[in-house]
Amino acid sequence: MNASVAVSGNASLVVLGEILHFTGDPSQDGSAATHHHADGALLIRDGRIVAAGDASTVMPLADPGTQIADHRGMLILPGFVDTHVHYSQTDIITSYGEQLLDWLERFTFPAERAFADPAHAAEVAEFFLDELLKNGTTTAAVFTTVHPESTDAFFAAASKRNLRMAAGKVLMDRNCPEFLRDTAESGYEQSAQLIERWHNKGRLSYAVTPRFAPTSTERQLELAGRLLEEHPGVLLQSHVAENQGEVAWVAELFPWARSYLDVYDRYGMLRKGAVFAHCIHLDDADRRRMAATGAAMSFCATSNLFLGSGLFDLHAARAAGVEVGIGTDVGGGTAFSMLRTLNESYKVTQLRGHRLPALQGFYLITLGGARALGLDGHIGNFEPGKEADFVVLDPESSPLRARRNRLAKSFDERLFLAMMLSDDRAVHATYVMGEPKWGQVRFADAVAT
Ligand code: GUN
Ligand code: ZN
Repeated sequence: MNASVAVSGNASLVVLGEILHFTGDPSQDGSAATHHHADGALLIRDGRIVAAGDASTVMPLADPGTQIADHRGMLILPGFVDTHVHYSQTDIITSYGEQLLDWLERFTFPAERAFADPAHAAEVAEFFLDELLKNGTTTAAVFTTVHPESTDAFFAAASKRNLRMAAGKVLMDRNCPEFLRDTAESGYEQSAQLIERWHNKGRLSYAVTPRFAPTSTERQLELAGRLLEEHPGVLLQSHVAENQGEVAWVAELFPWARSYLDVYDRYGMLRKGAVFAHCIHLDDADRRRMAATGAAMSFCATSNLFLGSGLFDLHAARAAGVEVGIGTDVGGGTAFSMLRTLNESYKVTQLRGHRLPALQGFYLITLGGARALGLDGHIGNFEPGKEADFVVLDPESSPLRARRNRLAKSFDERLFLAMMLSDDRAVHATYVMGEPKWGQVRFADAVAT
């Protein structure tokens, strides 16, 4: 962590800069959903947004003596939301040469074995959260491993930093190595204990986490559905329809199911607060079912390209009314940066014959992600009362970008460059509940009396 100054005792803060946030999907809800203030300000009190808008209207609302963080010249957005990532796969990012099922056997399962050791889990959790903050990500839906110790280690590290995070112990009782296997009953018991220990503790949410249908027996899926019934408000995360070989395997294992998604439907897992990674090889009936139930999709472009899985159809998903967020899916994904992931998402959308405008891209990694996880009551934009998690982006993060920016004629064009030419260097600072947790932050003089 590298924040040079903490907010001193004073619970109020004004942040100056160019502000962008959304109250809807600009591609569906029109221009009223986009809030852009070139000369903007946030007023924060006790870690929450009091006001966001033009500096000229926000500044008079600040009490005399309120500290000012001056980020003029930078773009301020709500903290990014990574809707699908595996902290336990940090160390196997970009492992060469395999598609999903072989990649799991060869790299993933051996790496996850090490998380039986709480010291290893704690060390990786610290590195992982540093990496998220460095990339402007303040909320994520995180797979741990089958070991409850790995979930404890993750939640403890997130809690120490006061981050809004969702995570869960992986459920996996068949078709995996013995050393990573639980049972339907032990997985149920351990998940229930973890829910008790961590769900709604501070800013943490528990997510019931069946890895994917092939590694759970029907009994385990049934008990996962029971956990959701017994603990309202708990989230669910899993994978679906990522790879053709996986889809064929699911058809063999669950011959009664109409589709891969239908397996999860049978066990009551399609609901608001459930997020499914990939969703590539689905049909329109599946999409309609997700929209009707409120289940969300996580679009994981870098992973889908790296593992050769296929091209997610963002347009079809949104047209069907499904909530979509963006996921890095590290270690299948190749970057922790949501900005680099947006870059690849744009290209996938192009290959599907559609476009991904920058405004929609930034919606997807902020409010869209928050909605996908059912956390939009807390985070995702700068409406009054929301938690003040935000990221400060430097428009001149590289010489090439600074040079390219000079040719941009509109805000839309500059925003597209932010989406296509950025990486972690673009993140000047990351704030959590109004406090700088990463980057160089200097406070200017307090608001004059
Ligand atoms: N499907 C089941 N497990 C995994 C995983 O760890 N990563 C990805 N990308 N897909 C999966
Ligand atoms: Zn994944």
